Amino acid sequence: MHDFQYRKDELFCEDVPVKKIADEIGTPFYLYSAKTLLNHYRAYDSAFASIPHLITFAMKANSNLAILRLFAKEGGGADIVSAGELYRALAAGVDPQKINFAGVGKTAEEIRYALQSDILMFNVESSQELRKIDAVAGPMGKKARVALRVNPNVDPKTHPYISTGMKKHKFGISIDKALEEYKLAVSLKHIEVVGIHQHIGSQLTETAPYVDALRLLLGLVEELKRLGIPIRYVNVGGGLGITYENETPPHPKDLAQAIGPLLKDLKCILIMEPGRALVGNAGILVTQVLYTKEGDSKKFVIVDAAMNDLIRPSLYGAFHQIQPVIRRGRKPITADVVGPICESSDFLAKDREMEECLPEEYLAVMSAGAYGFVMASNYNARPRVPEILVKGDRHFVVRERETHADLVRGEHIPDFLK
Ligand code: LLP
Repeated sequence: MHDFQYRKDELFCEDVPVKKIADEIGTPFYLYSAKTLLNHYRAYDSAFASIPHLITFAMKANSNLAILRLFAKEGGGADIVSAGELYRALAAGVDPQKINFAGVGKTAEEIRYALQSDILMFNVESSQELRKIDAVAGPMGKKARVALRVNPNVDPKTHPYISTGMKKHKFGISIDKALEEYKLAVSLKHIEVVGIHQHIGSQLTETAPYVDALRLLLGLVEELKRLGIPIRYVNVGGGLGITYENETPPHPKDLAQAIGPLLKDLKCILIMEPGRALVGNAGILVTQVLYTKEGDSKKFVIVDAAMNDLIRPSLYGAFHQIQPVIRRGRKPITADVVGPICESSDFLAKDREMEECLPEEYLAVMSAGAYGFVMASNYNARPRVPEILVKGDRHFVVRERETHADLVRGEHIPDFLK
């Protein structure tokens, strides 16, 4: 459930009419509901109440400071993949002891920054990385806490671009080699093994792949215990899907029911890294119709938001519902909703049945809270759009619209061209 609902025929975010915000700040913009964000976080948190756990929000899905702060105030942490994300998390007030650092390509500089910040742990993806972390931690007089990311070779049955836990993927350490890598890890002086990690993919709509992967992981945990390598944290990653169109993904409660029994007697702390499930349906992208156009074989609705603002349709063929901000009960049309960018791949929807709309009317692109703004670019020299957070009957600009001056910040024309 989310808090973008029609009252009569007008779309509201909580108690604020979306049109009011659009009239005030102009379009396009991302709009988030604080209530939905909280509800999603609490749904996860309470589903796992009977198991000691930590939710580290996968901030790659949405790294706005206000959203990070909102989860941090609920007791959440952050799953980061870069020094930039660490900087953001700390700036938002996330407790470093609730931060885990993922990713196949951490640089020495990033490792140093994370150690200085005393983060909870690194999720390590290769033996070279283990050695690198050891080498960086030594001169700092630190011992780095690590979990190894194990690739369980389980098919998550999702889009190939966002599936990660199979043999052919670049992620993690193959489950067959994991024991060997753990042995290496414990032999390194500046490494402390504390956990095990998996993340098999994103937008998962079934719990079975989690269960299969976790079973394999827990087998390894047993073996490690026998070898005197105790595991304190079991991290099952993120990946729970959301409803974009008519998917029926599991609720966190279903996930808890599926994996809870496996974890009950383990005496480990469970870590989860949801991204999309917390923020996806808590955000929309609001855009204005610029023109409508009858092509030879198609109708086009040309809007002021484009693939640089929301790239998911172009990149993954992803489906996002598009709804009128004011429903007028006009006849349905079938159209492509496209942006102003000079590429045929610049579309938000293809062959979409929608209510006929006219220039200057507002449309809401739904389920845009995850991997929306964070994947935006300045392509075609388009300033990135603002982000607005609603709480009750108030709204707050939590990120300003970029200016033209922002577009050229940091650029220099060298002397020889002057
Ligand atoms: N943990 C790790 C290690 C990850 O790589 C990811 C996502 C997550 C957690 C969070 O997954 P989530 O709960 O959000 O499914 N840009 C794509 C999604 C890429 C996901 C990358 N990794 C999209 O727009 O669908």
